[in-house]
Amino acid sequence: MTQIIRTVADLRLIIRGWKKAGESIGVVPTMGALHEGHLSLARAAKADCPRVITTIFVNPMQFGNPEDLKKYPRSEAADVALLTTVGVDLVFIPQPEEVYPDGFVTTVSVGGVSEPLEGRMRPGHFDGVATVVTKLFGMTEADRGYFGQKDWQQLQVVQRLVRDLNLPVTVVGCETIREADGLAMSSRNVRLTSDGRAKAGVLFSAITAGADDIRAGQSDRMAIREAAEKLRAVGFDRVEYIELRDAETLMPSDDPRRPRRMLAAAWLDGVRLIDNIPV
Ligand code: PAJ
Repeated sequence: MTQIIRTVADLRLIIRGWKKAGESIGVVPTMGALHEGHLSLARAAKADCPRVITTIFVNPMQFGNPEDLKKYPRSEAADVALLTTVGVDLVFIPQPEEVYPDGFVTTVSVGGVSEPLEGRMRPGHFDGVATVVTKLFGMTEADRGYFGQKDWQQLQVVQRLVRDLNLPVTVVGCETIREADGLAMSSRNVRLTSDGRAKAGVLFSAITAGADDIRAGQSDRMAIREAAEKLRAVGFDRVEYIELRDAETLMPSDDPRRPRRMLAAAWLDGVRLIDNIPV
């Protein structure tokens, strides 16, 4: 049975029993509006851990724009039903006051890897992510934490955070789950119009072609310019960035011997889409 828990005190009681029985805990942090991408993380956690917790918390601290926070899709009942089908043991759904009670003044800020790309476009975003993930790991006593490669920079930020703070958590990065046309599944995709949805797959096909061209010997800059042109031609409103970066540090990289990643963010239909692939 999947239990719904809303307070840290109740969560601690249940976890105490699990830990006493020697059961390890896999944790899947989410903001809800769940889709196959999230469920794939929960399934991976189930395969590894005797106990699995999914957290659903739309974290105000990681939203720069109050409108974006207000518009963020919420579907608690449907989310819990989906997690039940996967066999998740517990869904933790705290209110903002439970996570950030009066007097809360601590911020976890990861340098370096947080700064470029998403960090530059969304100031403060990764401080909010790092702070809430640290808290969720603490609240749930996670042994393993599951994150999607869809948010590649976030995954690197969490890896860095766990290493730098010696948190006793193994971070697991899971493959991006995509729609048939390549569009990475995202809770924000529901905001696309049907016309926008029909075009959105071009983000993936454009960076895939760019990565192929770079592997075939084309210059990074030319491949990136062509990818951006494809997005504009199909009707994307704004290409925020398409960059080839070191996969771990997210710094510019022209060293093909190191793992590299092509990462992109672009607006379509007033919706901000991000994606990334290995190069
Ligand atoms: P959210 O956007 O709900 O995503 C929760 C987790 O699901 C993240 O690790 C994300 O990378 C993963 N995910 C989303 N779409 C995916 C896809 N198509 N394929 C595979 N994994 C996918 O990311 C957050 O929430 C928040 O920043 C959070 C980590 C919960 C902190 O608040």
